[in-house]
Amino acid sequence: LGSRTMSNSAANIKNVCVVGAGQMGIGIGLVAARTAKLNIQFIDSSPVQLDKGMAFLDKLLVKDVAKGKCTEDERSSVKARITTSPSIAAMNNADFVIEAVSENAVLKRKIFAELSQKLSENTILATNTSSISITKIASAAKRPENVIGMHFMNPVPVMKLVEIIPGLQTSKETLGTTLALAQSMGKTTTMSQDVPGFIANRLLMPYINEAIIALQEGIATKEDIDTTMKLGTNNPMGPLTLADFIGLDTCLAIMQVLHREFGDSKYRPAVLLQKYVDAGWLGVKSGRGIYDYA
Ligand code: CAA
Repeated sequence: LGSRTMSNSAANIKNVCVVGAGQMGIGIGLVAARTAKLNIQFIDSSPVQLDKGMAFLDKLLVKDVAKGKCTEDERSSVKARITTSPSIAAMNNADFVIEAVSENAVLKRKIFAELSQKLSENTILATNTSSISITKIASAAKRPENVIGMHFMNPVPVMKLVEIIPGLQTSKETLGTTLALAQSMGKTTTMSQDVPGFIANRLLMPYINEAIIALQEGIATKEDIDTTMKLGTNNPMGPLTLADFIGLDTCLAIMQVLHREFGDSKYRPAVLLQKYVDAGWLGVKSGRGIYDYA
């Protein structure tokens, strides 16, 4: 795909709908409104989550104003480009939809089927899934050729990468427009086959899972496991801190996909990971995970 095709297709995108106002959705919407200067509509079935998400988004802008990275005018114009709604039925005319709900194939397929009823022929539907098959999600949509994987990293405003994953049905036009949108959001893209975990989580999650197994086996304390990998291999966070930051429920869901889809015991989720999730200790977001954040 030539760069001319890519920039032409990005120019047609003005209105982006982000479904799911959790930490990923909010980060994606913020970067699309701020860097790409697009109009954003957040849709989340929970009004409480919408309020929480908007408060978080404004907190990030206020922090950047305080640090001199953003002016008050820019903060107001970014916020003016953003609207919210609790229902897909009230969706505006979106040129591009990015779904960022929790990592659940049944829920994602339901949302794609519902979105399909509302969208024009050319609207692209991207999913931020971190491990579920794009081909499977696409088959729930009316126009599977318009569906693609767009996997952002957390925290979205800071992390430069977006993994792009075409499904079996994805058209070249959908791929070109999606690459162009990611570029206009200031991101570098990589492209992966539609296989469980794509590139990032195929490598990252077994590493995190192995760190939890090391903890479970009493090889070392959690602090020593993290310090070894942080200072010994120059990572910004150790694997256990990173797991809490991503969310232990998300880590477990991804390991389960890898385990089920590949059918290889090397991907079995750590018993201790399952135990933390059963206890409701999900990491930073719930106040307790492998570490205590209370
Ligand atoms: N949202 C937006 N910005 C955030 C943020 C958040 N949740 N958390 C931190 N930041 C920003 C801070 O505001 C700060 O920005 P400024 O420089 O403009 O002030 C910047 O990040 C650095 O933050 P801090 O100084 O507070 O802390 P730090 O230097 O320790 O950096 C970090 C924090 C960027 C999270 C860093 O620890 C890091 O890079 N960690 C690893 C992150 C990572 O690996 N992410 C990928 C996870 S895997 C994934 O997302 C895929 C998946 O499917 C599971």
